[in-house]
Amino acid sequence: MVFLIRELYTLQVRIPYVFWWWWKMKDVQRIAIVDPSDSTREPLRNLLLGVETVWLEAECSRYEFFIDVARQSTPDAVVIALDSDHHKALQLIQQLTDEFPNMPILAVSARGDGQSILQALRAGAKEFLTAPVVLEDLMLAMQRLRSTRSGSNGDIGGTFNGNHRGESLVVSIIGSKGGVGCTSLAVNIGCAIAQDPNYNAALVDLDLALGDADVALDLIPDYTLADVAMNVDRLDMQFLRRSLCKHDSGLSLLPHPVQMEDIALVHDEHLGRVIGLLRASYSHLVFDLSKRFTPTDWTAMRMSDVVILVAQLELTSIRNVVRVLHTMDKEEGLGEKVRIVMNRVGAEDSEISLEKAQETIGKPIFWQVPNDYRAMLGARNAGVPLMTHAPKSKTHLSLVGLANALCGKTPVEPVKKERRSFFSFR
Ligand SMILES: Nc1ncnc2c1ncn2[C@@H]1O[C@H](COP(=O)(O)OP(=O)(O)O)[C@@H](O)[C@H]1O
Ligand SMILES: [Mg+2]
Repeated sequence: MVFLIRELYTLQVRIPYVFWWWWKMKDVQRIAIVDPSDSTREPLRNLLLGVETVWLEAECSRYEFFIDVARQSTPDAVVIALDSDHHKALQLIQQLTDEFPNMPILAVSARGDGQSILQALRAGAKEFLTAPVVLEDLMLAMQRLRSTRSGSNGDIGGTFNGNHRGESLVVSIIGSKGGVGCTSLAVNIGCAIAQDPNYNAALVDLDLALGDADVALDLIPDYTLADVAMNVDRLDMQFLRRSLCKHDSGLSLLPHPVQMEDIALVHDEHLGRVIGLLRASYSHLVFDLSKRFTPTDWTAMRMSDVVILVAQLELTSIRNVVRVLHTMDKEEGLGEKVRIVMNRVGAEDSEISLEKAQETIGKPIFWQVPNDYRAMLGARNAGVPLMTHAPKSKTHLSLVGLANALCGKTPVEPVKKERRSFFSFR
């Protein structure tokens, strides 16, 4: 009896403690770090200890032993300092990636040049920081690693993220004719995605000559794609992230060059590199493409997980959708990424019915965005997204639904039958 009372007493003390411990640990990221050099490991370790949500689970001074350390400590993320021996460190990243594909890896090196970053990312690192690491950058990187890990459970990328690397979801938005609604969709989808605190979303305006995503969001950025392209050789993640301008919604924007003559600075191969780094920095990327199907547009589409082809119920637009699909289907892996989004559905001047459009295109219409001239134009004139200007509008709700579907958050709704108008084309 005495024994029982004593046990109950100890349990009473322990239960709140265990609960407190569980509560504290559930938001903590357990980190394992490897750096053979004491002189760099110490400051990095101290910096990590300064991040409230980080729990230093294991520390290792030999690349060779670290795989065992990771097996035993099963950390939430690992930090690998590359500079003692780049070759061994990259081999280790590769080995960790093969064995623990969902393990987020942060690589750290004083060599923040493009080559080192790419090598680390290609080996499997999800983040790269240039040493000496700054606390603010480290905290942001840890935050992104956390969302990478939750993303690997299926929420980032959802149905479309075919890359299986738990990386970002890249969505290109291209139009089937001028003024079809690409920028409106890109801006509002981007802002909708950015609402999720687990995501960090960026919009890149690749309509290099006539883009207006900055106007739609009323942002006056310090840097544009031209600055990024000019510095492409010494581009690292921090530089790139600082070049993007943040909107109140949480969406980051990389705008098109301001000066027309600077468009020539943005080469196709630059874009490949910029997209590669952006993919490693943001959970979601939205590209607002031009309507000219330039090499830049094609590169962006090839590097995307989803290509949204925006159409309207007009003969010219539908005809162009058929032509574009025909070209894309010729390239392996491209055609199947395309999703047709019908914009301005319900507009009085529709020339063709939804059924007829779908029949002509020969591919299902993935999403319908209702026509709402007042909401759209009002938002554009005010330089704000629909979530600010007309949060209850059908168009806004539809675009939030589209953003959710792209992120795999909701099952894709079947296309509802459009009410046929008197002027329907049959
Ligand atoms: N769903 C919609 N309902 C009503 N107007 C729309 C809709 N989508 C776009 N618009 C309007 O169409 C015009 C062109 O849109 P925009 O997004 O700039 O097209 P693009 O980028 O393809 O040239 C803008 O005035 C915009 O307000
Ligand atoms: Mg546009």
